[in-house]
Amino acid sequence: MSSVFQDAIANLLSPIGDLLKDPSVSEVMINGPHEIFVEKKGLVYRVPNQFADNEALMASMRAIAQSVGRVIDADNPRLDARLPDGSRIAVVIPPMAKAGVTVAIRKFSEDKLGLKDLINFGSLSPDGARFLDCCMYLGKNTLVSGGTGSGKTTMLNVLGGRMPKTQRLLIIEDAAELQIKAEHVVRFETRKENKERGIKEVTIRDLVESALRLRPDRIIVGEVRGPEALDLLNAMSTGHEGSMGTVHANTPLDACTRLETLCLMGETRIPPDAIRKMVGSALQLIVQCSRYHDGGRRTSHISEVLGVDEHGRYIVKDIFRWVQTGKDPDTHKFIGEMVATGYVPTFFEEFIANKLPFPKTNFKAPDWALPILKKAS
Ligand SMILES: Nc1ncnc2c1ncn2[C@@H]1O[C@H](COP(=O)(O)OP(=O)(O)OP(=O)(O)O)[C@@H](O)[C@H]1O
Ligand SMILES: [Mg+2]
Repeated sequence: MSSVFQDAIANLLSPIGDLLKDPSVSEVMINGPHEIFVEKKGLVYRVPNQFADNEALMASMRAIAQSVGRVIDADNPRLDARLPDGSRIAVVIPPMAKAGVTVAIRKFSEDKLGLKDLINFGSLSPDGARFLDCCMYLGKNTLVSGGTGSGKTTMLNVLGGRMPKTQRLLIIEDAAELQIKAEHVVRFETRKENKERGIKEVTIRDLVESALRLRPDRIIVGEVRGPEALDLLNAMSTGHEGSMGTVHANTPLDACTRLETLCLMGETRIPPDAIRKMVGSALQLIVQCSRYHDGGRRTSHISEVLGVDEHGRYIVKDIFRWVQTGKDPDTHKFIGEMVATGYVPTFFEEFIANKLPFPKTNFKAPDWALPILKKAS
């Protein structure tokens, strides 16, 4: 992007300049010119920053749209784009947005969280992290599931960085967000249609199709939101083991159902039963990210998908779970930890065959957690 654009955007966004610079702010939410909130450490606070008026705010959004070759106006009232520093911005303008120009900026952070950070934050236990590491090594087909802003992209980034060096990773996203640190990474980004400029749309689905011809070892789809779900499943079951994606769902079981629904969006010739079986057999691991009421983001489940039973229900078994044991009276933060549930995954033999340093005893649930696990299941 030219520096003229960069300067203009920085200037127009100066009312929130301090928030954009502040590394402790992870998200900025603008509900019209005079109401601005930020997220810090998972919690949302109102801040005194304001834009002069709706027009001033609108001018900055127009400049951002222009910098990425798009328009935001009455005919195109929504925008998803990136700021010059890589932050992700989503905008909806009136009359669709009732509060005035409504914006959310997910700040880009240079230092992406790693496996160690997730352990330090208590989002993963050391054993949970080691287990995921082993699964990435073995090439388990993995779906990262979670609600909005629950940490899915962060988790996918972390897991992607743990793949064996010899693998060729093809990453497909709507807006380049993942920064997977690996030796052999090829990245693709979708393109929106722009009729005035004669630009045709290129969807995730198109890119997955192309990716399959580009000799991938593993395919990573940033966000599975549409019929590309079926292509990802196909990739997973046709020699691209260790492929991954994220999906919006609140539990591992929901994630399976969600993927099935997405497959059906694009494919009406395959009966739903057959799609369900495909989901059940292609997926192996689900990592569930959750945002808790205390603002903490934690990995609430690591589960194995075993397939579909005779009644057509998914069989999903939790291997690790985050359990809450209390609440800090001063900070109101939840106290708890990730524990093994006692379930040994069916692919444990591969751990032994590959001499992975993860003994079977690591799957044993601690005695204190048994009543909690039992109650929750
Ligand atoms: N385990 C964690 N502990 C603390 N902060 C986290 C954790 N995981 C992610 N975050 C932070 O939470 C924010 C949202 O994370 P992320 O973008 O990964 O969520 P997401 O589920 O992909 O969101 P969306 O649904 O909007 O795509 C980021 O600022 C990220 O740094
Ligand atoms: Mg995301």
